[in-house]
Amino acid sequence: MKDINIAFIGGGNMARSLVGGLLDDGMPAERIWVADPNEAVLRNLHEHFAIHITTDNNEAALNAQVVILAIKPQLAKTVVRALAPAIQNGRPLVISIAAGIRETDLRSWLSGDTAIVRTMPNTPALVRSGATALFANSAVSKVQRNLAESILRAVGMTLWVDDESLMDAVTALSGSGPAYFFLIMEALENAGEHLGLPRETARLLTLQTAFGAAKMALESNDDLAELRQRVTSPGGTTEQALNVLQNHKLEAVFDEALSAAHRRSVELAEIFGGNN
Ligand SMILES: NC(=O)c1ccc[n+]([C@@H]2O[C@H](COP(=O)([O-])OP(=O)(O)OC[C@H]3O[C@@H](n4cnc5c(N)ncnc54)[C@H](OP(=O)(O)O)[C@@H]3O)[C@@H](O)[C@H]2O)c1
Repeated sequence: MKDINIAFIGGGNMARSLVGGLLDDGMPAERIWVADPNEAVLRNLHEHFAIHITTDNNEAALNAQVVILAIKPQLAKTVVRALAPAIQNGRPLVISIAAGIRETDLRSWLSGDTAIVRTMPNTPALVRSGATALFANSAVSKVQRNLAESILRAVGMTLWVDDESLMDAVTALSGSGPAYFFLIMEALENAGEHLGLPRETARLLTLQTAFGAAKMALESNDDLAELRQRVTSPGGTTEQALNVLQNHKLEAVFDEALSAAHRRSVELAEIFGGNN
């Protein structure tokens, strides 16, 4: 990976996090280009990371074997269409991190048989703890697949999906997921405070408990139901709390919530995609 050039189109939060992760992984700074219309953003990136910067998307793309689309989804169509000649010229691997932008739309905006990896990262990527699903089209080679995976792995865990329509489910689960956990943690913090704990104590206990539970689950081969049962003694305190949550049909609530997010993901892909 050290001898390829990577160009970021868009130098916002996600690009910044990926650049930081790639440099930490040993990627040389002179191999990275960031294009963004905002000169202040570019100057800041250059001062911080000593990478190449440009306000010209085509200039960045023409130098690259990998082009990463890190612009907002609503700008994708315009920006990607304008990049098409440079992409057709250099034939780089195109990696999109733009939420909801379909491979079929990217391919038609770029025209030609472009190698495209569509990804769906989530916000914890900003602290290198993201969960990113990737989908490759049939023009992507094995080497390019590995490349895409190692780039996204710089900001967290990666996994592949074979069917692009599953990206809407990924969006509903891990894309929007950090907000669900923030809401649950907020509720726990408030409930702890209602029981008399100082706010800061309730906050710290909540966060460390969430972190510890996730770490335990990640390090265990047992399924989540088993882990839950193991910490739920008959007649104990946990059982009392879980009974209340189950009586309020928590699982059904999450089913409904994720279905709503899934529906919206499909709608947004329609709104941002297409050729009009
Ligand atoms: N942040 C996350 O946690 C997260 C998670 C999953 C997926 N994503 C996806 O990642 C993508 C980037 O998100 P982000 O949070 O990094 O957004 P962001 O901070 O707004 O970054 C986008 C950057 O693109 C720049 N830009 C605007 N027009 C451009 C153009 N014509 N050519 C090149 N660059 C242009 C923007 O400049 P201005 O600010 O001056 O307009 C901004 O610096 C989005 O598609 C988002 O869906 C983000």
